Amino acid sequence: MTATETDLVNIKVDGQDVSVPQGTLIIRAAEQAGIRIPRFCDHPLLKPAGACRQCLVEVARPGRDGNLAKGPKPVASCAEAVSPGMEVYTQATSEVSEKAQHGIMEFLLINHPLDCPICDKGGECPLQNQAMSDGRGKSRFTDIKRTFPKPIKVSSQILLDRDRCILCQRCTRFQSEIAGDAFIQLQGRGGGSAGYEVHGLHGSQIGNFDASILDFDSGDGVPTQVLDEQNSGPHGEAGLMVGHAPGPIGDAELDESGRPFSSYFSGNTIQICPVGALTSATYRFRARPFDLVSVPSVTEHDASGSDIRVDFRRGTVMRRLAGNDPEVNEEWITDKDRFAFRWQNGDDRITVPHVRDENGALVPTSWADAMDVAARGLEKAGKAGILTGGRLPLEDSYAYSKFARTVLKTNNIDFRTRETTEEEDRFLASSVVGTGLGVTYREIENAKHVLLVGLEAEEECGSIFLRLRKGVRAKTTSVSVLAPFATRGTLKMAGTLVTAAPGTEPQVLNAVSENSDREHLKVLAERLNGGVILVGERASETPGTLTAVLDLAERTGARIAWVPRRAGDRAALEAGAVPFLLPGGRPVSDSQARVDAGVTWNDSITDVAGLNTVGMLEEAQAGNLALITAGVELVDLPALAPEALKSAPFVISLEVRRSNITAQADVVFPVAPPVEKGGTFINWEGRERPFGQVLTSTALTDRQVLEELAEELGYSLDLPTLESVHEEYRELVEWDGARVERPRVAGGAIPAPAKSEAVLSTWHLMIDDGRLQDFEPHLAGTAHRAIARISPETAKELRIERDSLITVTGKTGSITVPVVLSHMPDRVVWLPKKSPACHVADLGTAPGGIVTITAEVNS
Ligand code: SF4
Ligand code: FES
Repeated sequence: MTATETDLVNIKVDGQDVSVPQGTLIIRAAEQAGIRIPRFCDHPLLKPAGACRQCLVEVARPGRDGNLAKGPKPVASCAEAVSPGMEVYTQATSEVSEKAQHGIMEFLLINHPLDCPICDKGGECPLQNQAMSDGRGKSRFTDIKRTFPKPIKVSSQILLDRDRCILCQRCTRFQSEIAGDAFIQLQGRGGGSAGYEVHGLHGSQIGNFDASILDFDSGDGVPTQVLDEQNSGPHGEAGLMVGHAPGPIGDAELDESGRPFSSYFSGNTIQICPVGALTSATYRFRARPFDLVSVPSVTEHDASGSDIRVDFRRGTVMRRLAGNDPEVNEEWITDKDRFAFRWQNGDDRITVPHVRDENGALVPTSWADAMDVAARGLEKAGKAGILTGGRLPLEDSYAYSKFARTVLKTNNIDFRTRETTEEEDRFLASSVVGTGLGVTYREIENAKHVLLVGLEAEEECGSIFLRLRKGVRAKTTSVSVLAPFATRGTLKMAGTLVTAAPGTEPQVLNAVSENSDREHLKVLAERLNGGVILVGERASETPGTLTAVLDLAERTGARIAWVPRRAGDRAALEAGAVPFLLPGGRPVSDSQARVDAGVTWNDSITDVAGLNTVGMLEEAQAGNLALITAGVELVDLPALAPEALKSAPFVISLEVRRSNITAQADVVFPVAPPVEKGGTFINWEGRERPFGQVLTSTALTDRQVLEELAEELGYSLDLPTLESVHEEYRELVEWDGARVERPRVAGGAIPAPAKSEAVLSTWHLMIDDGRLQDFEPHLAGTAHRAIARISPETAKELRIERDSLITVTGKTGSITVPVVLSHMPDRVVWLPKKSPACHVADLGTAPGGIVTITAEVNS
């Protein structure tokens, strides 16, 4: 008998023998036997609550004499674990169970409104389904049902109809256990009294402690925080519950709509609510579930590869839900993944090609004309480069890569719309590309320790944050974060802050050693033996950081994973959309790699080194290089981009929507957004995430446009289908030749700001001014407010008052925002990268550069 078998418990469910591991809940054991017990509050990823009582079953256990004896009353099968010899009698075999479940159903329906015909959940509602199958045909309840003012605006996105709520607490448990944002809680006691809309008589209800909820209004319209006993720290720590701690709410805790900050994951509560009590402002009353067609897909918003479900009606996407992929995002997605989808169908969508006429105006034209103008423009320019952005699926990136090499005969192609370094090139070429499935979600959940470098997981890849928090709560992993200060996300993961001012990261990483005389760095080195280092793409901003990460991994034995920002970044790298690599990580500088790739592509590949993004922009600015851009935004590009686009001899833009780049292009080709094409993203794990086309569309993909353009120029891309791309790609990724050497770059000089100056630190917040969140006002309302963070010492030095405004000035502009004092290195200022009223690009100073800070004097 194996050890596993000894841990199994044998029970009977409705007479069937079942063997399950110790600790298994009765409801799961029944599932294993193919028997479904009705339930509402039970959720496999949440702790048992036994809140709704719908899963009551009769249970018999062997007594001391060995004889089976039934318990005095039914038990909640979702909250009790199996024990040896147990016999369970569900509604299928026990009248007691059936009667108990019918009774609970009748109780739940007493106060539940009969509004299924207009309820968003109608048609997919577990309560409705069960009431139909097991409820009484006629209600015995003749009194007045409780009513409440509705809907309550929990946030600008989440609406709560309390009269529909059955108090299952799935929403509150999700927020406390999974997201760590306990912004709603169960409050009050008892069943309440009918006909009264007064807090004291409401009874138990779900709500947040926003001013207007549950009649806690302070009268002056200013929300106050109220102490609540519930808490949401990974190990039960208090103080992480915005809206639940005493005292006034500061700027950092208010969202854009002025409410106490809620959660980046709040949409999941809508999906798991078993009734229609929680709805979204975006979807409420817009469609019925039975009118919708559902298609599985993958998020386009970050490198998570999260599984989503897209529901559309008559050609319009109505909503998005979390898919269920236990290996990736489990059953959760971020609010951005859920709610930000209208960008694909806004009124700025480009539907026909455009060319610039003799007066310089961009005018619509036919495909044939646009192709002709584009081809002649490229021929005339002679030299061209491609900026592909990071949003394309593998197949489109591959087409650009092949187009550059076989049609333009150049290695001028880069998916990175930012300044890059040779150190990063070497890091990506030696340690990321071609490594296949590397560190996984499951691994980070169970890693001995995870160090985040240049990555704020909650803001930049929400599913990594949720998985790490899950591991931390289960005590299967622990987290350290290399950053200037501890964010909310770090606190919610009980993360250890390894403080590093911008520019000092290599120095700090190099000091992590088992021989270090600083205890926390010594402990970190010990923990990383068998741990994981997650490196965000921001880590490349400070020279020497990526080298230090590789050195640290070699010293400790930690594994490394690179976490880029965009959904298409990893696929672009694998496809060779960089100037130094061909598909599969074949170095452009390697003649054998070039010959091999050339055989597949029926073409010889140039050995002239390609230009990176900055190099291409410089050449374009000098009037020597035509540009082809795809899904690129001016604000993300280096500061010289506007001038470069103006001076470039010819610009072709392949875009879904009008933008400040298409406005400067000579030819604009409309292309399909992700919802109108199939493809494959590769997530940060290196996992391929194929997705199918959701909507019928006549829009061409980037690959199809390039195919046409190649024809016009006298070449053939020969990539007619997605399958043909994969066939070629599979051949090319089989590269076992030499790889590029890893980088060895020493850290640079540490910035030394004078008085009134500070080193700039910045990263993107999850919900910000990004164009893929356009047309979603309710989501935008949940964005964090833009604030600047400085240390109390820096504030004192510059006589900056707490909660006042400060102005941060860079080379080309300035930003004025409220200041929040944080524990962080002195003379460092942090700003959100692209939030409303705070676009760091306007400063003209790169992260790690020196800016000046001044107090704003209130007039
Ligand atoms: Fe359950 Fe929905 Fe009520 Fe939350 S709002 S307790 S999920 S029924
Ligand atoms: Fe068991 Fe709710 S499902 S008590």
